[in-house]
Amino acid sequence: MSAETSMLVDMRGIEKRFGDLVALRGVDLVVRQGEIHALVGENGAGKSTLMNVLYGLYRPDAGSIRIRGREVRIAGPRDAIALGIGMIHQHFMLVPPLTVAENVVLGDERGGPRLDRRAIESRVADLEKRFGIVVEPHARTEDIPLGLQQRVEILKVLYRGSELLIFDEPTAVLTPQEVDELFAIVRTLRDEGKTLILITHKLREVMAVTDNITVLRGGRNAGELVTRNTNPSEIARAMVGRELKELRARATPARAEVTLKVQGLEAKSDRGALALQGVDFDVRSGEILGIAGVGGNGQSELAQAILGLRRPTGGSIQIGGVDISKDDPKRTRARGVAYVPEDRHLEGLVLAFSVADDFILGKQDRAPYARTGVLDPVTILRNGGRLAAEYDVRPPNPKAIVGNLSGGNQQKVVLGRELSERPKLIVVSQPTRGLDIAATEYVHERLLEQRGQGAGILLISSELDEIRALSDRIAVMFEGRIVATLDAASATEERLGLLMAGHGEAAA
Ligand SMILES: Nc1ncnc2c1ncn2[C@@H]1O[C@H](COP(=O)(O)OP(=O)(O)OP(=O)(O)O)[C@@H](O)[C@H]1O
Ligand SMILES: [Mg+2]
Repeated sequence: MSAETSMLVDMRGIEKRFGDLVALRGVDLVVRQGEIHALVGENGAGKSTLMNVLYGLYRPDAGSIRIRGREVRIAGPRDAIALGIGMIHQHFMLVPPLTVAENVVLGDERGGPRLDRRAIESRVADLEKRFGIVVEPHARTEDIPLGLQQRVEILKVLYRGSELLIFDEPTAVLTPQEVDELFAIVRTLRDEGKTLILITHKLREVMAVTDNITVLRGGRNAGELVTRNTNPSEIARAMVGRELKELRARATPARAEVTLKVQGLEAKSDRGALALQGVDFDVRSGEILGIAGVGGNGQSELAQAILGLRRPTGGSIQIGGVDISKDDPKRTRARGVAYVPEDRHLEGLVLAFSVADDFILGKQDRAPYARTGVLDPVTILRNGGRLAAEYDVRPPNPKAIVGNLSGGNQQKVVLGRELSERPKLIVVSQPTRGLDIAATEYVHERLLEQRGQGAGILLISSELDEIRALSDRIAVMFEGRIVATLDAASATEERLGLLMAGHGEAAA
């Protein structure tokens, strides 16, 4: 293969503006046939924008794209698909009531409008076999877990004959085990001659699975690295342009009063199953209690029950000795409970609002933001400007629309709103999901600061590294129960992993 044809993608000098904002300022990207190429950079660096240009979702303002040496214009996803480019989106675009096989072939017109069921299923089964991707073709998509839905997206892209597969943060919503399974698939795809571009914030994943790395910073190229010749700190330096701090060592808090006491808590899931089956624990002032566990073992229901968003069917929840299990969210919050929810798009923010308005969400009916029921725009804007600066929201513009901010900056808006009024108890769920390493560091520092000021923190996370770095004690949730509570010092990754998988005896 000549050097020319081995270059599958050659993007040069790509520029992209959104109004006044320059998202890409002359970016180059070279991806060779048959490699796994990491695209990394901080939140807002321009990674998704660059991939949306390659997939035809955005038109570049300047620059050229060559595919297999030939200059192309990609005016839409249809052009991209015809060139053999496929994208696996982070928010899956499947039709829930259809079967796996139906979703895979949906929108593909090559077979004519009326492919029969048998033909479809056998084509999908062929793909599954060739790439070692196991999904049940007859299963309804809405009934299968996220990790499997992602495989359906991958099959869909392969079905259309894609040679280049773009993954935008594919592991953000997966459990650790699903991540391993995805990477096995990714390696098989490469070995079968496919080319992959992987956007991720997790340097461990970059090191484990990729061949070459392109680093973006502030819409510009900030480094081209060969994975086997580099290391995580070199990549991190290229991404943020400085050394990262080590997390400060934690002082053990003095025995403090119990902030949150949960006893025998029971609650049902949305589907009516018993999601919490008698949960007991407490959180003290100045303490971080980590809740480790594979997603879906009752953690979401636990957070919702504490916040008054889900009515418990049994047990009690006490804040400072007062039972709050029958309070609505507003009353609960008035008792000094802050909440950083797992899905900031669904529960944490109104994306169409300005930064200033999202900062006062839930507080809009009281002073100083409203007087006798009328909003005070001057105070709201001033408050927005102050919090945006204090919580390092970029750009620090209180009038910016939250939906246009990067993930890290959206999370800073949630934190600013939730942490700025000296909460007694903070319930945080997956606080750094989708965030880059600098934003993650920032969130961790803010949580430790709150702990230092005496807040009790319940930290729910499926990232073991995060749980272990921050928690004073770690409780493991499995099938709606706390199966063990460990001191941070004795909670090795292996022990936690066994407990999370339901092997309590082996972990003892
Ligand atoms: N449709 C849009 N309208 C306005 N601004 C946008 C739009 N899409 C992206 N931006 C801005 O362009 C910049 C680059 O965003 P992009 O989504 O490409 O970053 P990213 O590297 O993918 O970040 P993340 O890691 O948070 O996903 C950001 O400042 C973002 O706010
Ligand atoms: Mg992105």
